[in-house]
Amino acid sequence: MPRLKYASVVRVFVIIGLFCLWVQIMLSASSGGIYRDGEELMNANETSEQVLALVPPELHKYLTVHHKNVSANSTERSGPKNISDILRAIQRNNDAQTIYNEDIFGPVQNDTIIIAIQVHTRLTYLRHLIVSLAQARDIDKTMLIFSHDYYDEEINNLVRSIDFTKVMQIFYPYSIQTHPHEFPGTDLNDCPRDAKFDQAVKLQCNNALHPDLHGHYREAKYTQTKHHWWWKANRIFNQLQCTIGHTGPVVFLEEDHYVAEDFIHMLYLLRNMADKSCPQCEILSLGTYLKTYQYHHNSDKVEITPWHSSMHNMGFAFNRTVWNNIMELQDQFCAYDDYNWDYSLLHLSQNRPGREKFKVILCKGPRVFHIGECGIHHKKSNCNASTVISKVQQLLKNAKPYMYPSRVTAIVTTGGAKHNKKLTKGNGGWGDIRDQDLCTNMTKIGRQQRTYIYYA
Ligand SMILES: *[C@@H]1O[C@H](CO)[C@@H](O)[C@H](O)[C@H]1NC(C)=O
Ligand SMILES: *[C@@H]1O[C@H](CO)[C@@H](O)[C@H](O)[C@H]1NC(C)=O
Ligand SMILES: *[C@@H]1O[C@H](CO)[C@@H](O)[C@H](O)[C@H]1NC(C)=O
Ligand SMILES: *[C@@H]1O[C@H](CO)[C@@H](O)[C@H](O)[C@H]1NC(C)=O
Ligand SMILES: *[C@@H]1O[C@H](CO)[C@@H](O)[C@H](O)[C@H]1NC(C)=O
Ligand SMILES: *[C@@H]1O[C@H](CO)[C@@H](O)[C@H](O)[C@H]1NC(C)=O
Ligand SMILES: *[C@@H]1O[C@H](CO)[C@@H](O)[C@H](O)[C@H]1NC(C)=O
Ligand SMILES: *[C@@H]1O[C@H](CO)[C@@H](O)[C@H](O)[C@H]1NC(C)=O
Repeated sequence: MPRLKYASVVRVFVIIGLFCLWVQIMLSASSGGIYRDGEELMNANETSEQVLALVPPELHKYLTVHHKNVSANSTERSGPKNISDILRAIQRNNDAQTIYNEDIFGPVQNDTIIIAIQVHTRLTYLRHLIVSLAQARDIDKTMLIFSHDYYDEEINNLVRSIDFTKVMQIFYPYSIQTHPHEFPGTDLNDCPRDAKFDQAVKLQCNNALHPDLHGHYREAKYTQTKHHWWWKANRIFNQLQCTIGHTGPVVFLEEDHYVAEDFIHMLYLLRNMADKSCPQCEILSLGTYLKTYQYHHNSDKVEITPWHSSMHNMGFAFNRTVWNNIMELQDQFCAYDDYNWDYSLLHLSQNRPGREKFKVILCKGPRVFHIGECGIHHKKSNCNASTVISKVQQLLKNAKPYMYPSRVTAIVTTGGAKHNKKLTKGNGGWGDIRDQDLCTNMTKIGRQQRTYIYYA
């Protein structure tokens, strides 16, 4: 009999284990990881009735897809058409540093929470992120900065239609979209990814002497996300006119994230807890992958632990003090042979002379979710965004009674052995010296005056 009991206990553990794994995969971010899609704009009208039912009617406008007028000449779309037009529009926008709705919500203060959102082409998800942000308490006291690596009028129109807080758009100027046949895109003379070293040297292709640590040559699409992340952070902390005296937190989100309505409230609680009990906690993290469904236990629990790239990269925040520290060690980020920005940051964290690794203080009940993956059994092609969004909506609806805790309690952990392991080598994809140079060059651009443009 004991043997039987043992077997059933094991079975229960295996089932719980598998369930946890499933939950993690369902909600796991791969921000630094896989390149998701091509340059196709994802803008489907697949929001289900079920999802719509839980969105307040006044926010439906952010989900409405305006189908292109088929009868009109499709080449006659308003806005830039060719690359030189797009480059010019990008420069004009970046120079202007326009803050939309500043007249309604007041200027950026030194302690304004800045929410930086990295946007590629997944407009369907972005619509839902905006809907979630619109419902967050105190969102009107923040500034949203949308950072784009793909210029598109539909995306721009959506972002500029936001009316619930201050909004700025910044445009990554070295994108593949605007450099399709030259670095940072793919140059005609670039070495093929799988070329052998001798073969590449004989071909005399670009940087034949610099494959990555796996012996592969650069692939533009894999490097763009890290470049964009780095450019965005530099742009926000070092270049914008409105952040000269800024000392508040900058929260990092991506287009396929979804926030809980009390995420700003939680950010304040995390900051207060850090000030009181963990002054060395540099990073605040609103998302986590653990115990996702146990809000009644975890909504007021926070954890203090060493920061780890793949676990604490979703909805995390830091301020200028921390940024300055990162800047001092920028070489650890730019010269590290890893195309993931988060692993590059982990490498930097592990190599701070005379300092500990970054510490993070995080919400045990997550306030940021990842809606951009559809789980293991779905191919991207038949992946239904509504299904995942509906799950998160339902989860947050059920968690409502546990939101806005008046205080939080912290536990301190050391993190697992696996996560404390010192990185010995990167994941590769960042061997080309042009990528390392571009990354370094981005840190050399100084504060830029705002130029005012007058439309005729
Ligand atoms: C997605 O799933 C919802 C129900 O979960 C369904 O109503 C909707 O039609 C589906 N959309 C697509 C494009 O499959
Ligand atoms: C697209 O969404 C709009 C607004 O929600 C709706 O009126 C329209 O019927 C939808 N079209 C399709 C093809 O689902
Ligand atoms: C579509 O375009 C045609 C020609 O420009 C115009 O007459 C028509 O009103 C447009 N329809 C809609 C729904 O915008
Ligand atoms: C669309 O516009 C282009 C260039 O302006 C023109 O050559 C073409 O004939 C137009 N097509 C239609 C269907 O109007
Ligand atoms: C791009 O389009 C504009 C008109 O929109 C035109 O004046 C310009 O010559 C075009 N540039 C190139 C390189 O095709
Ligand atoms: C913001 O910070 C700057 C630089 O530290 C300082 O000069 C300015 O007075 C501050 N503004 C406010 C409103 O505190
Ligand atoms: C910025 O973060 C550092 C490190 O976590 C912290 O010590 C400092 O108090 C923060 N500054 C502000 C103005 O919150
Ligand atoms: C970086 O800047 C240097 C000096 O301005 C320049 O020569 C080099 O081409 C730049 N590299 C890249 C990849 O932009």
